[in-house]
Amino acid sequence: MLDMSVLDTHPADAFANDRKHVFHSWSAQAALNPVVISRAQGSEFWTEDGTRYLDFSSQLVNVNIGHQHPKLVNAIKEYADKLCTVAPFHANDARSEAARLIVEVAATNLPDSDLNMVFFTNGGAEATENAVRMARLHTGRNKVLNHYRSYHGATNGAITLTGDPRRWPSEPGMPGVVKFWGPYAYRSAFHSDSEEQESERALRHLDDVLMVEGAHTVAAIIIETVVGTNGILVPPPGYLEGIRERCDRHGILMICDEVMAGFGRCGEWFAFQKWGVQPDLVCFAKGVNSGYLPLGGVVISDKVSASFRDKAFPGGLTYSGHPLACASAVASINIFKEEGIIEHARSLGADVIAPGLEKLQANHPSVGEVRGLGVFWALDLVKDRATREPLAPYNAAGADAKPMLDLAAACKAKGLWPFTHFNRLHVCPPCTTSVDQVEEGLAILDEALTVADQFYTG
Ligand SMILES: Cc1ncc(COP(=O)(O)O)c(C=O)c1O
Repeated sequence: MLDMSVLDTHPADAFANDRKHVFHSWSAQAALNPVVISRAQGSEFWTEDGTRYLDFSSQLVNVNIGHQHPKLVNAIKEYADKLCTVAPFHANDARSEAARLIVEVAATNLPDSDLNMVFFTNGGAEATENAVRMARLHTGRNKVLNHYRSYHGATNGAITLTGDPRRWPSEPGMPGVVKFWGPYAYRSAFHSDSEEQESERALRHLDDVLMVEGAHTVAAIIIETVVGTNGILVPPPGYLEGIRERCDRHGILMICDEVMAGFGRCGEWFAFQKWGVQPDLVCFAKGVNSGYLPLGGVVISDKVSASFRDKAFPGGLTYSGHPLACASAVASINIFKEEGIIEHARSLGADVIAPGLEKLQANHPSVGEVRGLGVFWALDLVKDRATREPLAPYNAAGADAKPMLDLAAACKAKGLWPFTHFNRLHVCPPCTTSVDQVEEGLAILDEALTVADQFYTG
């Protein structure tokens, strides 16, 4: 609880002042009715009136270590006593150690990793912006290719990269961005009928796009290694390897956006490690310190950083490598190692969440597909399993969105905070969630999905 000397407003004013003075993201302000959160612990949080929620969304899929980890909170307090801020051009022990640790974990499963430097940002959008800037300057090319069904942030370049409707109001945005279809076997753009075929056809489609765009004009291909908000799309066999091969063949940089997929979410430090594929640039944020303080960045391979050895990199941020945020990243990475959090997330996925969600699929006709890994899962909900018609249409609003709104409301009424997007329910609890808590959440989903089933027409 905050000490009254720090925050001397009455808690009851939080809602009223929010509605009067806080302008919220992505929202028509008049319609909002936010719950007031007063405390949180591990995988749970409580509202001002004492209602408890099991956090199956990890807030915005970022609180990977769980809420209020005592060692992480203490590390921040200790470092705040030592040094709250320094300019980015000084050296600082917290920043140096955070960079060293991030580089160290980025090399997991990659014996020849040359991801050796880190440019720090305040979050994910600035990471994708700066990765693209580096790629363009390194290659001397302008074009950037990326997937439909993706999210890369909300600043001008990052929202242009984004392959979902959040981009539309900001178009035309940054010049030089070209979209292509990534793999999604359940709703294939290529009419394929297996994961293998989907991978092969998606790569052939990419070849066609490279041909007509001119591969020699392309600076980078940026992908979410495992697509997050747009569906938890795990790359099929050979896909990441295929992207890597095409990048090498055409002198294009491969950028993996691991803002959501990284730091334990997929049961790995970084998701690309699962496939043994090394990108040239890696974007991170969220799970690096679970959002206890704002932090993100780009991990940079030697070949890219060499371009800026004798030539200035034209980018910077007042808070690049903020010492307090970096101290929290150091503490968080060390806690992950001490407590085996990566391994826990991996086994929660394989041994508890996967079989639990498969049972839900068996019980509920509206669950069309279950997919994911680690603590990163989606239920693709349908009106009809045969046609795979989504339970709510793409980008549904108003009455069309009712099935998903009702489902979310049913989860909340039973004490589970869900993550929903379009026709999907995502299961993304903190990496530290206990088996009992996951089972509690799955039992709530089992009840709540009866609401989705009422919209089933198949
Ligand atoms: C894959 C991905 N990239 C980038 C971002 C943007 O990060 P931020 O909101 O910290 O700017 C997000 C946020 O959800 C994300 O999921």
